[in-house]
Amino acid sequence: MKPKVFITRQIPDNGVELLEKYYDVEVWGEEKEPPREVLLEKVKEVDALVTLLSDKIDRELLEGAPKLRIIAQYAVGYDNIDVKEATKRGIYVTNTPDVLTDATADLAFALLLGVARRLVEADEFVRSGEWKKRGVAWHPLMYLGYDVYGKTIGIIGFGRIGQAMAKRAKGFGMRILYWNRTRKEKAEKEIGAEFVDLETLLKESDFVSLHVPLNEETSGLIGEQELKMMKPTAILINTARGKVVDTKALIKALKEGWIAGAGLDVFEEEPYYNEELFKLSNVVLAPHIGSATYGAREAMAELVARNLIAFAKGEVPPTLVNR
Ligand code: DGY
Repeated sequence: MKPKVFITRQIPDNGVELLEKYYDVEVWGEEKEPPREVLLEKVKEVDALVTLLSDKIDRELLEGAPKLRIIAQYAVGYDNIDVKEATKRGIYVTNTPDVLTDATADLAFALLLGVARRLVEADEFVRSGEWKKRGVAWHPLMYLGYDVYGKTIGIIGFGRIGQAMAKRAKGFGMRILYWNRTRKEKAEKEIGAEFVDLETLLKESDFVSLHVPLNEETSGLIGEQELKMMKPTAILINTARGKVVDTKALIKALKEGWIAGAGLDVFEEEPYYNEELFKLSNVVLAPHIGSATYGAREAMAELVARNLIAFAKGEVPPTLVNR
């Protein structure tokens, strides 16, 4: 008999097709995550689970999952999973690193350019008919934004995605500062980045881009004090996790001009709604789509399947989190 896997949302078909040879697969077909009570019921029976960021995998859930041996997260971040508890119970946890690095860095850079050059405001101006109504074809002072080429970027978190962001910045002739828990000398040399302390990074950067995982150390990392250190012309980009930034402080910073703008793909809770933030014209917002390319999402599905198949064959899954 094949082991059972429950996949908590529809993922690209390539992943499911690979899995079907080794597993008895059940996919939750609804767009929204399975309600907690459904998930608690499902895990009673399964050997494996494919999870998303919005599935809370905590002690209560693990306690009620006697057969569960592997949780394959369909994401690189896994702050929704109590990895310590899983490890204690001998349950493997895997994630999907590498395959979404470029897609996420591309989106971070798109947000950076979009905020700097006021792309969303400009689009709305044309689309709404305001441009035609105003009757001004071109004006030297219309929709001025900030230069990107040759400016300084500060990258907070110099892992895979942070480094990919730095490579993009290099193409824009930028000076690259980074801050990370540990110095990354090899990558630093290859890319041409400078390791600095957080305060220097915040004070000297024209763009600050966040690429840290969410954990106890990074939760609330960017608050009032940090935002006040930034230049009034600086732009903050967050494609990491919403809770890394204190949203209240950020709104204050944007309203009072401590910083010039922000590009946000992630929020303290998701889905997100905040009128005060949404009224601001100096922000560009996206609904957590960092890895949302056909290529990345298919590669993530394949990696999830590879992890589960390795496990089914008695091998160590390739991208194990709890080594
Ligand atoms: C991740 O992988 O952690 C992203 O936030 C979702 O793609």
